[in-house]
Amino acid sequence: MNLVNATDATTAGLDNYVNLPAAQQPTWPDLAALDAAKVELSKRAPLVFAGEVDLLRNRLADAAAGKAFLLQGGDCAETFADATAEKIRNRVKTMLQMAVVLTYGASMPVIKMGRMAGQFAKPRSSNDETREGLTLPAYRGDAVNGYDFNLESRTANPQRLLQAYETSASTLNLIRAFTKGGFADLRSVHEWNRGFANNPVNAKYLSLAKEIDRAIKFMAACGADFEELRTTEFFVSHEALLFDYERPMTRIDSRTGGAYDLSGHFVWIGERTRQLDGAHVDFLSRVRNPIGVKLGPTTSTSDVLSLIEKLDPNREPGRLTFISRMGASKIREELPKLVEAVKDSGATPLWITDPMHGNGITTKNGYKSRRFDDVMDEVAGFFEVHRAAGTFPGGVHVELTGDDVAECLGGSELIDEGTLEERYESLCDPRLNHSQSLELAFLVSESLTKR
Ligand code: PEP
Ligand code: CO
Repeated sequence: MNLVNATDATTAGLDNYVNLPAAQQPTWPDLAALDAAKVELSKRAPLVFAGEVDLLRNRLADAAAGKAFLLQGGDCAETFADATAEKIRNRVKTMLQMAVVLTYGASMPVIKMGRMAGQFAKPRSSNDETREGLTLPAYRGDAVNGYDFNLESRTANPQRLLQAYETSASTLNLIRAFTKGGFADLRSVHEWNRGFANNPVNAKYLSLAKEIDRAIKFMAACGADFEELRTTEFFVSHEALLFDYERPMTRIDSRTGGAYDLSGHFVWIGERTRQLDGAHVDFLSRVRNPIGVKLGPTTSTSDVLSLIEKLDPNREPGRLTFISRMGASKIREELPKLVEAVKDSGATPLWITDPMHGNGITTKNGYKSRRFDDVMDEVAGFFEVHRAAGTFPGGVHVELTGDDVAECLGGSELIDEGTLEERYESLCDPRLNHSQSLELAFLVSESLTKR
């Protein structure tokens, strides 16, 4: 494959976004340093390959057609400091375990996709943050500024764009090693649970792992060839928020002349940047990647139909994923009309649920949290709505970590407000921990079986 930088790709209209309002962009004080960082980024090797991006589009087309299920998960905000081998391995292991639960329960291929290797930029509800009388720029993710609350750290620094690239590259390198180098071999289904705490959901996982082992041994005795089990496909995704990162990472593929955002396989537009006439929708309408759009509870049917017109005018299978994030109390009310309108229009996007972002609460002791029961209820509502409409509930999008944190309330470990004080690590939204993630996978797997 031959890739050229899309610097003079005027025909692709890639730079049209500069004429449009772009929400949620940082203010960079040093514009010369910003330009230098963008030029440098545009010369770096792509993080993923256009052929892999095309393969993912085909996989997502299967999910949209009801023949596969998407599992998308990872941090709310990745950080440079936490891009360690141990944390990345735990997250990949957790995703592999969830995928096994889903595959086995639903007897259906599961597409594994991390919110990983690029999730370094965050939209914020306010530009600034004030603490004890001092007002500084809000933290916008490690690709922009630091979390520490002082002026130097909070000043947007373009060198961080390059550090986001480097950290994404090393994260992806590890993910590829874990998933292609034997670690993800289905015959290691027991190993993935090693090191995680003993609790009822892990025990449930172990008994499923035993069944899988028995099935594999039986097949081996029958002479089956297990090369297929040795490795697994794993894709990476993030919110395409920062034009100063995404644009330099976009390249023209010489095979097809198409533009690909090669910072990740799949990129999505967030709830705060999905304006129909805004820069994000325009820019992503011009790249060939499969893309997602978050849909919150204020989304109208005409918004959804216009998004389809702009982002998927050719109704290409696998191109467009709608990620609904309504909140448990609203999904049964708000989602049906959107699903029906899309169905009537003849479009067949992939529908997945993000049961996290509509369910935020602040606890009495001041933590940003989510109740695990609300998360589960939104997933249940998602299945109910699609079952009633006759459409396919094609995946879940969750914020999770493989670590033993306490950020979401409840689950089989009964995490309460006090526990948050002991094991809360996220710099942004609260994530499901390892056992809550597995529990969610079991619920989804049961819902898929009932479907
Ligand atoms: C997120 O996915 O972390 C996020 C900010 O979501 P949303 O755009 O749905 O609010
Ligand atoms: Co989040």
